[in-house]
Amino acid sequence: MSVESGARDNRPLIDRFGREITYLRVSVTDRCDLRCNYCMPEKMRFLPRADLLTLEELEQLVTAFILRGVRKIRLTGGEPLVRKGIDTLIDRLGEQVASGVLEEITLTTNGTQLARHARRLARAGVKRINVSLDTLNPRKFHEITRRDALADVLRGINAAQAEGIRIKLNTVALKDINEDELPAMIAWAHAQGHDMTLIEIMPMGDVGADRYDQYLPLSEVRAGLEENWTLKPLMMRTGGPARYVEIEETGGKLGFITPLTHNFCDGCNRVRLTCTGQLYMCLGQEDRMDLRAVLRDQGSVAINAALDRAILQKPKGHDFAIDRQAQKPAVLRTMSLTGG
Ligand code: 5AD
Ligand code: SF4
Repeated sequence: MSVESGARDNRPLIDRFGREITYLRVSVTDRCDLRCNYCMPEKMRFLPRADLLTLEELEQLVTAFILRGVRKIRLTGGEPLVRKGIDTLIDRLGEQVASGVLEEITLTTNGTQLARHARRLARAGVKRINVSLDTLNPRKFHEITRRDALADVLRGINAAQAEGIRIKLNTVALKDINEDELPAMIAWAHAQGHDMTLIEIMPMGDVGADRYDQYLPLSEVRAGLEENWTLKPLMMRTGGPARYVEIEETGGKLGFITPLTHNFCDGCNRVRLTCTGQLYMCLGQEDRMDLRAVLRDQGSVAINAALDRAILQKPKGHDFAIDRQAQKPAVLRTMSLTGG
């Protein structure tokens, strides 16, 4: 991929609140080989293929963002590693890292396909990845994801680590499901040399399961952990929503993502591109820009003007709330569409 191609426009993307957009999350597919009950219904209806950006279109859009100052790219899904041809896109982005244009290329994966991709990812220059894992118990893994794939995930994690890729586990805290297991998971992760981030459940998409029953405030989890461990807050911020502590006893890092109880929007440096080319300026708002339509109707020369318009729409913040009365998700699209 050459960032020299096409019209040159190197102006940074700065929103109305002075936040510069340097981080792009790209959902490369809405498909997934798991069916986490908080994310998808069992009978998930995936998008028609014609709606998806082709890999060429994805590359065109990503290139436009890189020209406008995006320095970090995270590929997500659905499950990014189930998208055909994804290795090629990662190789191309890796070339941008090698040439210094991009700082980092990384991905968020469920780990099921990781074992057979690990070497290629490492060769492309992927230095760290996030792996979603909510339990180490095979029976619970099946209960949460509706699939028997824990062994594959663990094999994938080991393969990636053996290739020198750093692992951060993303664990959704689920009331009565993995609640009791969280300290053991943290201890295990840290003993393996992995960082871990706990995620509070977010009201996204209509997945059938009752998320109000699964909601476990991380303030509660944290108070529990502090009975046995010393949590030292770290100043480290990533421009993302996580707050980190170091656990003195394990020596490992633990992040907390609490969208419902904290506002994390002030330092937001990111936007999200879905697999259908919709650019979301904020995870918690419906505002979007249809970059697929721009690309297909007007061609790549129109992208820059569209980015200028889009960036001015980036809202100050989100307004997630679990509305117990309405029992409706705050945002109707599922996480597998926007990719976390
Ligand atoms: N609330 C919180 N986390 C979610 N994820 C998917 N759906 C939700 C939800 N409704 C998580 C996945 C993964 C990360 C990308 O987002 O488990 O760790
Ligand atoms: Fe797949 Fe991630 Fe959704 Fe689970 S949470 S079904 S792994 S996209």
